[in-house]
Amino acid sequence: MNFIGMNVIGTDQFDRASIDKVLDTAKSFEDVAQQKEKTDLLRGKILASLFYEPSTRTRLSFETAMFRLGGDVLSVTEAMTSSLSKGETLADTAKVIDQYADVIVVRHSDEGSAEEMAVNCECPVINAGDGANQHPTQSLIDMYTMREECGQIDGLTVAMAGDLKYGRTVHSLVHLLKHYKIKFIFVAPASLQIPDKYLKDIEYEQTDNLEEAMAKSDVLYMTRIQRERFLDKNEYKKYKGVYVLTKRMVLNVNEKIKILHPLPRVDEIAKDVDELKNACYFRQVQNGVTVRMALLALVLGKA
Ligand code: CP
Repeated sequence: MNFIGMNVIGTDQFDRASIDKVLDTAKSFEDVAQQKEKTDLLRGKILASLFYEPSTRTRLSFETAMFRLGGDVLSVTEAMTSSLSKGETLADTAKVIDQYADVIVVRHSDEGSAEEMAVNCECPVINAGDGANQHPTQSLIDMYTMREECGQIDGLTVAMAGDLKYGRTVHSLVHLLKHYKIKFIFVAPASLQIPDKYLKDIEYEQTDNLEEAMAKSDVLYMTRIQRERFLDKNEYKKYKGVYVLTKRMVLNVNEKIKILHPLPRVDEIAKDVDELKNACYFRQVQNGVTVRMALLALVLGKA
C-alpha cells in the first residue's frame, strides 16, 4: 500500500502488511514521542484539526504529534465556532480547508462524514471518529499497545466488553484484528451486542458474563456505555454500570490479563485497577502520540 496522500477513513482499507507498516513506523517514533522531543520532519506542513464532537485524547494527541514533528496546527473545536453552524456543508468546508492545510483530521457525529470530506479535497483526510461507525486510528493504537504489552498479536484471545453496539472503537478494532490469528469473546447485554456485520470471517463467542470471559482471555478491551448514542436516556440508565471491573475481580479471575480501554472511562473500570501493572490504558494513551506521528509522517510522504 502506498501511504503518500492516502485518506484514512475506515479499517477496511488496511491489510496485514499495511497494519504492520504503521506499527513498525510508530515504533521508530517511540523515543521522540515518549521522551517529549521535537523533530523538524514535517516543518512547513499544516494540520487542520476539526473536532465537531467532544474529544480529549484524539485531538490533543494528533496536535501533539504534529507539533513534535515540527509542523503547525489549525484547530476547530466545536461546530458552533465554524461556518457549519451557518449551514455550510461538509463538502464546502473540505474544499475551503484544502486551500489552507496539508492534512485534515476530522471528528463528526455523522457516519460517513470523513468520507464526505475526503471526496471533496485533495489533501489527505484522517477519520477521527464518524458517529457510531469507525475510529480507525484508535484501533491502530490499540493494536500497537497489544503488540507492545503481549509481545505479539497472533494467538491472542481478546475479550471485548461493554457497549459493543455503538462503540466505534470496537467495530474498527475487530476489522483490523481479523487479519491476525485471534479468538474474540464479545461480552455485552444482548441488546448491546456487536452488530452481525462485524462477525464475518472471525472466530468468536458471545456472552454477557464478564468474569467467565476474562478467565479465558489474554486481553480485556473494556469500553464505556456510549451515552451520547442513546435516543432514549432511560435506556442508557438501564445499562450504565452493567460491568464494573475491580482490582479484586482481576486478581481473583485472571491476574495476568492485559486491560485496555480507549478511554474516556465512566464507571466501568474502578480506580483501584489503575494500581495493577497490567492496567495498560494510560500507556495506551501515550501510544496515541506515537502512532499518530507515524500516520501523519506516512500520509505526508516523510516515513
Ligand atoms: N479514545 C478517544 O477517542 O478519546 P477522545 O474521545 O477523548 O478523543
